[in-house]
Amino acid sequence: MPFRIAPSILSADFARLGEEVRAVVKAGPDLIHFDVMDNHYVPNLTVGPLVCASIRPHVSVPLDVHLMVRPVDRLVQDFAKAGANIISFHPEASDHVDRTLSLIREHGCKAGLVFNPATPLVWLDHVLDKVDLVLLMSVNPGFGGQQFIPSVLPKIAEARRRIAATGRDIWLEVDGGIKVENIGGVAGAGADTFVAGSAIFGAKDYAATIRDMRARLAVV
Ligand code: DX5
Ligand code: ZN
Repeated sequence: MPFRIAPSILSADFARLGEEVRAVVKAGPDLIHFDVMDNHYVPNLTVGPLVCASIRPHVSVPLDVHLMVRPVDRLVQDFAKAGANIISFHPEASDHVDRTLSLIREHGCKAGLVFNPATPLVWLDHVLDKVDLVLLMSVNPGFGGQQFIPSVLPKIAEARRRIAATGRDIWLEVDGGIKVENIGGVAGAGADTFVAGSAIFGAKDYAATIRDMRARLAVV
């Protein structure tokens, strides 16, 4: 299974955002994860399409936009225009999940559905054919630098079983508290795509951290 590492720029130094983005892209990630928080769906406020469009020319890998916003639909178009390649949203934040998934694909992006630690996978039941990526939160969304919640591990395995049953290449991403020390266990549970914010941006050498993560993944 190919593994993908997605540094989250939430933990970058925003006073030097361009420099940080260029440095992390140079460090060899597979995606760049872009966290959008609205102070309604989650108790924090980050950045929008304007910042996404500004960093886009500096990002040579797919841009993975994680919307923690309510409502969702209006921003789908804005982020697609701002250069997103993947757009993920939380189903409880959308009034019409099926419609939002279609909207994302109509805009030429991969569509992702995000599950908080306490959100059941039952939300996948009738829409899995419209989903390109399942994103499981391993912290409660809103902040970087939180501890990985271990009860998510069996949920990763359950999501992997559901994905395998489709026979399609749906990505299984995990977000929150991923570090060099636990990435192997998360991969062992069935994840293939790993968001890491503080573990990468909190390190002196971004490339060495990504290399260390890949070394742990190589022995899964
Ligand atoms: C949290 C965000 C995450 C965050 C992860 O709501 O969705 O993407 O940046 O940060 P770490 O890796 O520090 O837990
Ligand atoms: Zn995220």
